[in-house]
Amino acid sequence: MNVVLLGAPGSGKGTQAERLQKRYGIPHVSTGAIFRDEISKKSDVGLRVQEYVKSGGLVPDELTVEIISRRLAQSDCAAGFLLDGFPRTVAQAEALDGFLSKGKKEMDAVVSLELSEAAAVKRLSSRRQCPKCGKIYNLAFQPPKQEGLCDADGGALGQREDDKPETIRKRLMVFNDLTQPLIAYYRGEGILSTVNGDEGVDAVSRAIYEVLDRFKK
Ligand code: AP5
Ligand code: MG
Repeated sequence: MNVVLLGAPGSGKGTQAERLQKRYGIPHVSTGAIFRDEISKKSDVGLRVQEYVKSGGLVPDELTVEIISRRLAQSDCAAGFLLDGFPRTVAQAEALDGFLSKGKKEMDAVVSLELSEAAAVKRLSSRRQCPKCGKIYNLAFQPPKQEGLCDADGGALGQREDDKPETIRKRLMVFNDLTQPLIAYYRGEGILSTVNGDEGVDAVSRAIYEVLDRFKK
């Protein structure tokens, strides 16, 4: 099953992807996570992308497409994948379609998580993440059992560098300008489903399962 999770910053893509990858047995591929990993390793790619990510702008399409094409060509993606944060522009969506059709594959579903800007800002400013395992928390909505520590491995929870108020605003603007048009793009392809992201985490998961269970092998 080849799936794209679409949605504004803070809409819950990463939170839901964690569950979906287990339910459907497909890898969660997040361009944001790949970039943050490269930045922390100070690799060539990391150095090339860090300013864009830090400022809340988009990494150029060409570099992003190159990196994701390499990732999707890995063997764990052969039976399907769950994309989070890619594509983010119409040019990226077209490149993805081209990449898939070369391998005689296609997208099965695009799930768009809908959330108001006010709710997204609230969620992002109280988000915390484990630097070791990547598990996502929220001080207001999904706090860890022990303050400041990851439930899974005891890692000291931190805040993402792009979760500062001014960077959150920039990311939301970029989403509205460049990523929102993908909703029309995928509606045109007939594979778009919208889900209300402004419910509790379990209710959002159930709504996504309703969409995706029919593709389960
Ligand atoms: P990326 O990492 O993809 O960030 P994003 O799209 O801004 O999305 P977030 O990760 O902030 O939000 P999310 O939807 O995953 O929400 P989460 O589940 O964490 O990209 C980062 C940067 O990398 C970009 O700005 C860009 O620079 C670059 N980049 C990435 N992809 C690119 C591409 N394709 N092209 C070019 N550049 C690219 O949830 C948020 C919070 O809400 C958490 O605290 C969570 O606990 C909480 N929460 C989640 N669901 C609920 C719920 N239902 N109720 C209450 N709280 C909830
Ligand atoms: Mg995310």
